[in-house]
Amino acid sequence: MSKFYEESEISKDMESKVRKMATVVFGYGNQGRAQALNLRDSGFRVTVANVDDDYAKAAASDGFEVLSLEEGASRCDIGLLLLPDEVADTVYLKSIAPNLRQGSTLVFASGYNIFYGRIKPDRSLDVLLVAPRMIGAGVRSLCAAHKGFPVLAAVHQAATDSAEQVMLALCAGIGAFNPGGCVLRSSFREETLTDLMGEQAVAGSILYLVKAVYGKLVERGVSPEAALLELYASGEYVEVFSKAAEIGLWGQLRLHSHTSQYGQQTRGPRIVNERTDEILSEILDEIESGEFASEWSKEMGSGLTRFRELWDANMRSEMLSHERSLYTRLGRRPSG
Ligand code: NAI
Repeated sequence: MSKFYEESEISKDMESKVRKMATVVFGYGNQGRAQALNLRDSGFRVTVANVDDDYAKAAASDGFEVLSLEEGASRCDIGLLLLPDEVADTVYLKSIAPNLRQGSTLVFASGYNIFYGRIKPDRSLDVLLVAPRMIGAGVRSLCAAHKGFPVLAAVHQAATDSAEQVMLALCAGIGAFNPGGCVLRSSFREETLTDLMGEQAVAGSILYLVKAVYGKLVERGVSPEAALLELYASGEYVEVFSKAAEIGLWGQLRLHSHTSQYGQQTRGPRIVNERTDEILSEILDEIESGEFASEWSKEMGSGLTRFRELWDANMRSEMLSHERSLYTRLGRRPSG
């Protein structure tokens, strides 16, 4: 069994020392805002470092002192790098690394830049992973309600002997040990593999499977509205996945009719079959070898042409024009 940390493993002396350290949150977006507010509520000394943009204004209006990235780096004992993964390496190299003090702690919320060697922190730094399995809005709202959420945590590099204690104090500070939460000992590799595989293989295939099933139903004369309501617009599958999180993936199946239970278990494996297994291995190989990461870097470096083409094609699809009409009729606001 993997190791789940307990809150009792945190030394109280150490926790109170960590709270007094200068904690700088680099970036005030989804995770940055949530973690900065949670840590401040937990008694940490938190400052935000950001470029001069609307996120910096939001941090100031939430009552934080906002420093430049360079100044934040020079002042921090603990620096949480909560910037988008695709820019964090450049920002780190230019503005943060040259200003960090020896012995300070660098904390990531994703394994991406360390696992792929895009950021190579100086050996004098403690390098930690504190990666919530929760969107930023949830990190904030759950903590505010004294509830927890899962976190993958790891020590990648321990330059001091307090690295693991700092990691646990941060997990506690953002609310991960609150009821309902957990802190699993992980690694930068494991976080990267699970994160990218979940996004690409689960979320990615759901998008395109829904689109394909919609096309098939409409081809057979089903109205676009009936198809959309069935496939996602009703929110029925939100309930299904919420029940899966609560009582288990197969446990939730018992809440469906017997016809549905039989249909799902006989037809599902016809779509997800041996060929799917080969494709999953290919996708995971591309993630683990860094092939996907270098393809994505090249795409960003060459002006995001394919990225925009994919977005344009999907936004122009007939399915989305029906979605827009349906959502307007239902008083919702489709995004994009
Ligand atoms: P985000 O996209 O919300 O970050 C916005 C922040 O980055 C702003 O403060 C903005 O000023 C700054 N920023 C953007 N481009 C910049 C640039 N070129 N130079 C300097 N600053 C720049 O990022 P998000 O989603 O909060 O992700 C932060 C980290 O958390 C990432 O490592 C991500 O993988 C991880 N993570 C994110 C989750 C989420 O809820 N979105 C969930 C779990 C982990």
